[in-house]
Amino acid sequence: MILLVGGAGYIGSVLAEELLERGYTVRIIDRLYFGDGGVARLRDRVELIVADMRRLEPAHFAGVQAVINVGGLSNDPTAEYNPVANYEMNTVAAVRLAELARAAGVRRYLFASSCSIYDRGLSEDESDVVCDETTPVQPRAAYALSKLEAEQRLLAMASADFCPVVLRKGTVYGFSPRMRFDLVVNTFVRDALATGRMRLVFGGEMWRPLVEVRDVARAYVACLAADEEVVRGQIFNVARANMRISELALRVREALRGEGIAAEIVPDYTYRTVRSYRVSCRKIESILGFRALVSVEEAVRDMVRRLRTPEFEDLHHPRFENLRWLRMLEEAESIVGSGRSIFAPPPAGSPPLQVVRR
Ligand SMILES: NC(=O)c1ccc[n+]([C@@H]2O[C@H](COP(=O)([O-])OP(=O)(O)OC[C@H]3O[C@@H](n4cnc5c(N)ncnc54)[C@H](O)[C@@H]3O)[C@@H](O)[C@H]2O)c1
Repeated sequence: MILLVGGAGYIGSVLAEELLERGYTVRIIDRLYFGDGGVARLRDRVELIVADMRRLEPAHFAGVQAVINVGGLSNDPTAEYNPVANYEMNTVAAVRLAELARAAGVRRYLFASSCSIYDRGLSEDESDVVCDETTPVQPRAAYALSKLEAEQRLLAMASADFCPVVLRKGTVYGFSPRMRFDLVVNTFVRDALATGRMRLVFGGEMWRPLVEVRDVARAYVACLAADEEVVRGQIFNVARANMRISELALRVREALRGEGIAAEIVPDYTYRTVRSYRVSCRKIESILGFRALVSVEEAVRDMVRRLRTPEFEDLHHPRFENLRWLRMLEEAESIVGSGRSIFAPPPAGSPPLQVVRR
């Protein structure tokens, strides 16, 4: 059995399905910040435990052969909004999860890290460097710092009995049953469909490594299936291609045109701090034979078709943007709920959280 923490999320819900297809049994632990829509179709096939990843117990690891941790706060703005919760989830809980897993005899632990650790910004001299897993990093943002510290502490746990593996993913794109429109390709598609315009922040000068969500799921499975000796204590970059955002916008526009959708690109040159980084994925290809396959164009076409359902009638619903949604939940909770921050862990000893349907 695979324990999939954050399994109801954008990546987790696609990964859960991939794992089931490969014959694994799956136990999902998720606080369901975004509801259970991502795993609704899998409910008869997975065990779903609604719990906070900061409150896990040894019993959650019973019968588990590997842990995949794709839970926590998932982007820069959310981390900046609540750096304490970000650190608790993305670093402290990530490490505690590994300690609990190891104590329960679970040998393998795959950790969702991010290529944003490589960010050098646009104004730095070295901004055009292609980073591999050995490139020295000096992240500045709360999100990347929390991921880096978790990586370092997890990798230090590598031993004959414990096999931590880090996947540094580029920015993910593509359709997931728990959709996010706060990821650049998905934002372009959403905005083109909803308004006919795609806004290009800072002229789109920055670089991003990009990867489709089903390819991400395949990368996790590759790390799960590989011999321990091959992946133990390793970091793998996971991306299909590096692109400037300006080129990305042109590609998305062409793919949309093929679907009969016209979109105007609107550049915005107002100065702001932007992230920029490029990565090499030679390591995962040479060691695991893994290559990401799904192009931006293919993913855009797929998204356009799959977004034409009543569920996606309101593409600007805040649920599709992590920070907007979490802020809204927090405000609602402060007015009509318990008054506790939704970012806080449930008090120790409180009853199990309930599954709520959207
Ligand atoms: N999406 C990307 O482009 C991308 C890129 C690089 C790395 N990552 C990392 O991959 C992981 C998954 O990202 P995603 O895009 O699926 O994000 P997501 O926000 O859609 O999913 C995160 C899931 O974790 C759950 N969660 C959050 N806090 C929790 C807590 N305290 N206890 C239990 N569950 C909790 C949420 O309810 C959600 O279902 C994250 O760790 C993220 O940092 C994502």
